[in-house]
Amino acid sequence: MPPLAIEARNVGVRFGSFQAVSELDLDIAGGSIHAVIGPNGAGKTTLFNALSGVRPPDTGTVLLAGRDVTRLPANRRVHLGMARSFQVTNIFPELTVAENIRVGVQATTGFTPWVFWRSPSRTPGEHDKVLQLLETVGLADRAGTRAGDLSHGAQRALEIGMALASDPRVVFLDEPLAGMGIDDVHRTKILIRSLAPQRTVVLIEHNMSVVLDISDRITVLAQGVKIAEGTPAEIRNDERVKEAYLGSSA
Ligand SMILES: Nc1ncnc2c1ncn2[C@@H]1O[C@H](COP(=O)(O)OP(=O)(O)OP(=O)(O)O)[C@@H](O)[C@H]1O
Ligand SMILES: [Mg+2]
Repeated sequence: MPPLAIEARNVGVRFGSFQAVSELDLDIAGGSIHAVIGPNGAGKTTLFNALSGVRPPDTGTVLLAGRDVTRLPANRRVHLGMARSFQVTNIFPELTVAENIRVGVQATTGFTPWVFWRSPSRTPGEHDKVLQLLETVGLADRAGTRAGDLSHGAQRALEIGMALASDPRVVFLDEPLAGMGIDDVHRTKILIRSLAPQRTVVLIEHNMSVVLDISDRITVLAQGVKIAEGTPAEIRNDERVKEAYLGSSA
């Protein structure tokens, strides 16, 4: 069995008296695509923030490839191979597509400690790396375009490219398909699937057909609590999951 990329135990996040995530255990297998789904306000983004260091949890522990990173800030985790994209698009609109990617690459090439589980791939020059990332996310022909002028779908793809710029072993994507048209959804779905098994992908996404199609495993949250977990086939037929979704959309 491959080692766990993420191992979270008893994770809890509170906002004042409101418990947004409660006593959550989560195992994410290395090289898998693991989706976290649930109704609006279920605590998915809060959980991502806790796992990725944007807002550390109030209780519990988070291990990244076996190492305790619970209290490590997000910027320090990048050097350990963790990266994330955000629910709200987070690009530099005035810069070109290539410049956005370059910013991501430069953010990590300044200091690269030797990490034993990092892929032993050659380290290409910065220019090559930018081109390669543009190719990966399907934006090679838009390299000189101002990022703010891209379609929404292309901006989301660019954001994935920026998250990949640090060559992460684990990448968190918060609703990468949100607001995309059908063509972009299809393209991005193939892109996300292609990231594993070289990388571990943790994905929040409301598009159920895509989630069921590309995930190896799915965790379902409702009101800050894990209500189900399993393979797509198991989740598709889970009564609690159907209830949580019908309950929220009624
Ligand atoms: N900074 C904060 N302060 C107070 N409450 C917050 C804060 N961030 C989130 N919450 C609350 O915590 C709960 C979970 O929010 P979260 O954003 O994690 O949900 P989500 O599952 O990502 O929802 P969505 O699918 O709408 O993105 C919500 O009730 C939200 O209002
Ligand atoms: Mg969210």
